[in-house]
Amino acid sequence: MARTIPEETISRIKNAANIVDIISDSVALKKSGLNYLGLCPFHTEKTPSFTVSPDKQIFYCFGCHTGGNVFSFIMQHEGLAFPEAVRALGKKYGIEIPDERMTPGQKRHYSEREKLFRVNELAMSFFRESFHKGATGQRAKAYLVGRGMTQKIIDEHQLGYAPNRWDGLLRYMGQKRVPLEVLAKSGLIIPRKNNSGYYDRFRDRIIFPIFDLNRQVVGFGGRVMGDDMPKYLNSPETPLYNKRRSLYGIQEAKQEARKTSVIYLVEGYFDALAMHLYGIRNTVATLGTALTVEHVQLIKGLVGPSGYAILVYDSDQAGINAAKRSISIFEQGMLDARILVLPEGYDPDDFLKEQGPESFLKVSKKALGMVPFLIDSAIERHGLSVEGKVKVVAALKDALAAIEDTIARALYIKKLAERLDIDETAIMDHVRQAMQRTDPRGTKDHADRFRPHDSGSRMEQQIVAMMLRYPVMIPEIVGRNILDYFEDNQLKTIGQMIINQAREEEHSVADLVSLIENHKYRNLLAKLAMGEQHWDRQGCERLLDQFATRHRKQLKNDLQRQIEAAEKNKDMDLLLKLLAQKQNQAVKN
Ligand code: GTP
Ligand code: MN
Repeated sequence: MARTIPEETISRIKNAANIVDIISDSVALKKSGLNYLGLCPFHTEKTPSFTVSPDKQIFYCFGCHTGGNVFSFIMQHEGLAFPEAVRALGKKYGIEIPDERMTPGQKRHYSEREKLFRVNELAMSFFRESFHKGATGQRAKAYLVGRGMTQKIIDEHQLGYAPNRWDGLLRYMGQKRVPLEVLAKSGLIIPRKNNSGYYDRFRDRIIFPIFDLNRQVVGFGGRVMGDDMPKYLNSPETPLYNKRRSLYGIQEAKQEARKTSVIYLVEGYFDALAMHLYGIRNTVATLGTALTVEHVQLIKGLVGPSGYAILVYDSDQAGINAAKRSISIFEQGMLDARILVLPEGYDPDDFLKEQGPESFLKVSKKALGMVPFLIDSAIERHGLSVEGKVKVVAALKDALAAIEDTIARALYIKKLAERLDIDETAIMDHVRQAMQRTDPRGTKDHADRFRPHDSGSRMEQQIVAMMLRYPVMIPEIVGRNILDYFEDNQLKTIGQMIINQAREEEHSVADLVSLIENHKYRNLLAKLAMGEQHWDRQGCERLLDQFATRHRKQLKNDLQRQIEAAEKNKDMDLLLKLLAQKQNQAVKN
């Protein structure tokens, strides 16, 4: 990859960025020894194996073996190319990047997202201005006030109003010299059927800007103030807006969610706003779409491994079905969730307005774990007749089988048996059958993943780790040509890079990581550098001696085998040559 950003700028940005801060934006990290630990954002896990080293400014996941420096993190996490990742960080730390060096293609690609963010920002200003202007603005404000919103909430969430015109935003953007094709990409305008120009998507609607974690506007929602259809309209999918990854209110919720390790998940814009209004700020809403695993990952990054989500759903059948679907998404995402079913006919917005936040918090203390919720709703649905009980067990066996903690599973089975007034063993049989069907799920792949390397390669790994952690040994490693004996070519390459790097005065693991473009090498390097093993000179010498001895032994064995083979084949020339080598070796040792 041709580097088009000056090296000097890259290193300024790297020095300014603290990897722990950057990763903390999306992953809940806990201090653990010298490092920080969290749930890996690159694979689904229940116990943290994602490690971030503040000293070395690198990360490594011991579960999925992904690792790298702050740039590789941003690249993989945000799906950006290297220059984009550098730019994103540069922007964050206020470091200007000269862009003459970008190729036209790169310029186009990078600036598309930037331009769209700018357009959204401008659009937000336009909707805010319209909100504060004229009789129609007044009407919008009255609507929000009528729904219990305060000025503070309106401002915090930057609520606005799209005027009742076909070209309100179009003209505003024209004055700001925003090119039509950029505006069209933002989804804020729609091409006319007959191909003659565009019109505003949002007209005469209350506007809800949708933010990402970093408070950048990714899209908009709009609600009619009367009974027109559709009630809500959202931005279409754009390079910035993806409803599968967006959660309304996340920019306001993140701080409290991190603090409490709990997040409330509601269904509607106004539900989220009401929760924030009443001080339950750790609340987000899905945006008219079913919950996705991407949402769960985002949430997990905020609440951390011991945190959980409280799903707040309506008590009608649709709400209960939605809750059930969400449960399986939470299971896939390996995050705990509880279900809060509000009394018949309430959504959080109504409930808070009528009963107040204390009542809400009281009800929310009674939020059920997933299994009790499923038990309750199955019994409610099928009843307690003989057929009903059979159906209840059938409906629950998979959920029970999926519980990994054997004690918890046994307790839930017992509870269900009591509720249904049948024998535990009858339920157990069904659960066991379900378990046999689902078992192949991963045990093998687990074993594979953690299979240790053979001991030779492990020694080579240790030597590379030593070079990283105890660089004073590098001259000796070079002097004894240790790398020449390496069998693992990947490790050999990394070792060579470390040696080359050590010749320059300033070096760090994070710098080294920048040089490695092959992700396998990069991951391995991060892993090796991350170990908390203590190194001292004596230990290092011992390791090198062992490795050299092992190598000599191996060489001797190899030679011996070759000699035997040559004897057998009666290859006299070769035999003589090999015997001479053997002689040589004996002298050396
Ligand atoms: P209010 O009537 O304003 O209180 O809305 P609500 O949030 O209570 O409405 P509802 O329960 O009907 O919808 C929940 C969420 O689904 C909304 O907040 C929207 O995100 C989404 N939604 C509802 N209606 C529509 C629609 O017509 N179109 C789209 N795209 N989304 C909708
Ligand atoms: Mn509502």
